[in-house]
Amino acid sequence: MNTLIVIAHPNPSSFNYSLLDRVTHYLEELNYNVCVRDLYKLKFNPVLMKDNYQTFSQSEVEQEILEEQKFIIDADLLVYIFPTWWSGLPAILKGYFDRVFTNGFAFNMTKDGLNGLLNDKRAIIFQTTGQPEKIAKQLQLVKSMGNSIDLGILARCGIEVIIHKYFYSVPFIDHEERRKMLLEVEPIINLLQKES
Ligand SMILES: Cc1cc2nc3c(=O)[nH]c(=O)nc-3n(C[C@H](O)[C@H](O)[C@H](O)COP(=O)(O)O)c2cc1C
Repeated sequence: MNTLIVIAHPNPSSFNYSLLDRVTHYLEELNYNVCVRDLYKLKFNPVLMKDNYQTFSQSEVEQEILEEQKFIIDADLLVYIFPTWWSGLPAILKGYFDRVFTNGFAFNMTKDGLNGLLNDKRAIIFQTTGQPEKIAKQLQLVKSMGNSIDLGILARCGIEVIIHKYFYSVPFIDHEERRKMLLEVEPIINLLQKES
């Protein structure tokens, strides 16, 4: 099985990178091939400009986007790791979807809505927050992220989201709590083994 991990975090010392490390480790234990696209390290340009906008509605896709699409084509499992920024995705990841999930690649646009083209792929999402779970729930974070990324992006492109896991209060937890949180990654990755 091939996995594509997309991580969107500017700091290699962050908890998000610890998640990347754990996710990679457990996937490799299951003998998955793991490919990591680190959007900050790649200096991925997330801005869909007028010229690129043509690629959203037509099929002239730039070379750098074709390369990202190839990683998706080759993957059975897509994993996204990112922090919550302003109750949503970091801009670099939102822009990745804007530019990489093009019409004709990720979906066909029809008058009745989008026809997903990535039906053979599944996804796991790891999202961290600064807020405690209670506040995140008051702000309906899970519901709004579910609508925007799980349903609004991935499901519309045919991708089945297996699990969208949240790690709350990350800047405020001590070493022991971080360690415990990281232990939660293993059973999530092992779900794949049970399902396959
Ligand atoms: C620009 C910015 C916006 C943020 N907005 C939110 C937010 O809306 N909700 C939230 O819970 N945390 C928010 N945070 C906090 C981060 O989500 C939190 O620090 C991060 O998930 C912790 O993981 P890390 O240590 O890997 O960075 C924000 C942080 C930044 C830098």
